[in-house]
Amino acid sequence: MPSVLVVGGGIAGLWTAVRAAEAGCTVELVTKTELAEGSTRYAQGGIAAALFPDDSAERHYADTIAAGAGLADPAVVRVLCEEGPARVRDLIRFGVGFDRDESGLERGLEAAHSRARIVHAGGDATGAAIEAALVATVRRRTVAVHERTMLLDLLVEGGGVVGAVLLDADGAVVERRADHVVLATGGAGQLYLHTTNPAVATGDGVAAAARAGAAVADLEFVQFHPTALAVPGTPLISEAVRGEGAVLRDASGRRFLAEAHPLAELAPRDVVARAVWRTMAEQGGAPALLHATALGGDVLARRFPGLDRIVRDAGFDWSREPIPVTPAAHYAMGGIVVDLDARTTLPNLFAVGECARTGVHGANRLASNSLLEAAVFAERAARALLAAPTVPTPVPTSPESPDVDRSRARREAGRAMDRGALRTLMWDAAGLERSAAGLEAAASVLAGWRAPEVGDRASAEDRNLLELARRTVAAALARRESVGAHCRTDEPATQIPPAPYEEAA
Ligand code: FAD
Ligand code: SIN
Repeated sequence: MPSVLVVGGGIAGLWTAVRAAEAGCTVELVTKTELAEGSTRYAQGGIAAALFPDDSAERHYADTIAAGAGLADPAVVRVLCEEGPARVRDLIRFGVGFDRDESGLERGLEAAHSRARIVHAGGDATGAAIEAALVATVRRRTVAVHERTMLLDLLVEGGGVVGAVLLDADGAVVERRADHVVLATGGAGQLYLHTTNPAVATGDGVAAAARAGAAVADLEFVQFHPTALAVPGTPLISEAVRGEGAVLRDASGRRFLAEAHPLAELAPRDVVARAVWRTMAEQGGAPALLHATALGGDVLARRFPGLDRIVRDAGFDWSREPIPVTPAAHYAMGGIVVDLDARTTLPNLFAVGECARTGVHGANRLASNSLLEAAVFAERAARALLAAPTVPTPVPTSPESPDVDRSRARREAGRAMDRGALRTLMWDAAGLERSAAGLEAAASVLAGWRAPEVGDRASAEDRNLLELARRTVAAALARRESVGAHCRTDEPATQIPPAPYEEAA
């Protein structure tokens, strides 16, 4: 049976490791800090799947395609929606205690879903429940877990991946060989000044895969969540709060989303985030206001116990007053290009979860489809790991480097990259609204910065952030249209009609 090195301890990595070990593979899992740390444990709203009698895979498919602004890959969305319910049932078997009411699983509504289909645990602690169940399961399987062990680079020989270069818990650089490597390193929210993501989300897997020659794509599609609490650390205020009836108003009390979209606060996430962003610009940068008072203190405390604590700790009584919210970088739709079985374009290299670009989200992810995507394609990856490696067909990739203003790049040349400056630059130039002028200026600055020598975790992360910032800006410059989360103020909006649903053969 093959040996497998899994990188990452979120839902995607843990799921792959558990299922590959059950199938008889020899599995090692490495993770950058503690096993449980990553975006998964912070997920609030829940996981979407067509589990209820008034719902269907076809309806979930239509919602996912519509939210993706016409760029989601129909074949991949079909797999997600058809296999999703079975993966949620697997989670229940793994020990996730989803909330229940008198009719069975309790379900919530989130933006751009035509049905209430989001199941959750602990009210707003779904991610923590999933992470805890999978960590407990992986501990019961024959998986060798190495915490505080960081992927630096992939080992490539003869055109295929044969292992990885790691920074181990003692600070030593070591090589680890395996028949297959599975990247499950999560997102890259730390590219931006304001993010809902934890500190580990520095895009390491995508950067390492790109350096090794794997195709990456759609990096310009960065999802900004519309409602992060406007306090230091920008903690997320789940979309489920709007699903329960909370509304957004500007400083004068105007319900601005009612004018912007027929679905108002439950419009697709890119629409809501841009409306919040523009409202803030109109009022001199002051945050928008989320009014949840109509829900009442009891419902807020029962349905959203974690958020209730976060909001009150920040000094707000949201049962009586509105809370200030702002958009923040939340999710990477792009990443390492994979096929339906999580194979990248490099033999023996797989990618699952947020670091993968399956094509399922198109230009804008539908809420609560991320945990589902991780589960569905990790399950497929675990099966594919048993098969002999194949050489995938080439796919289009993001451009690697844009034309840069050489004189500006020369002025910056040799300047060591500074993480804070990079995050501010990305927020200003490659955020919710972009233009060629801003992106070109950013590309020139980024081209001049020197990547740090890799000696420890921070410097390795900085190298990856610089690599990804350059590629993200290049991709945003190359896409000369506004679509989904990619809004170019100097380019027109593109409307792409959705493809019809086709049943599996
Ligand atoms: P992660 O859970 O982020 O795990 C990545 C792992 O890789 C971590 O263990 C990390 O330490 C490790 N790692 C990273 N780099 C390295 C390296 N170089 N070497 C070794 N290990 C490394 N989605 C939903 O569907 N529903 C929700 O309700 C929801 N709510 C969210 C709320 C918040 C606050 C956030 C931030 C995201 C939310 N999302 C939600 C998105 C979803 O949680 C993530 O997309 C998903 O959990 C990603 O899972 P993952 O396994 O790919 O990555
Ligand atoms: C949220 O709870 O609003 C986040 C859901 C998601 O990112 O899918």
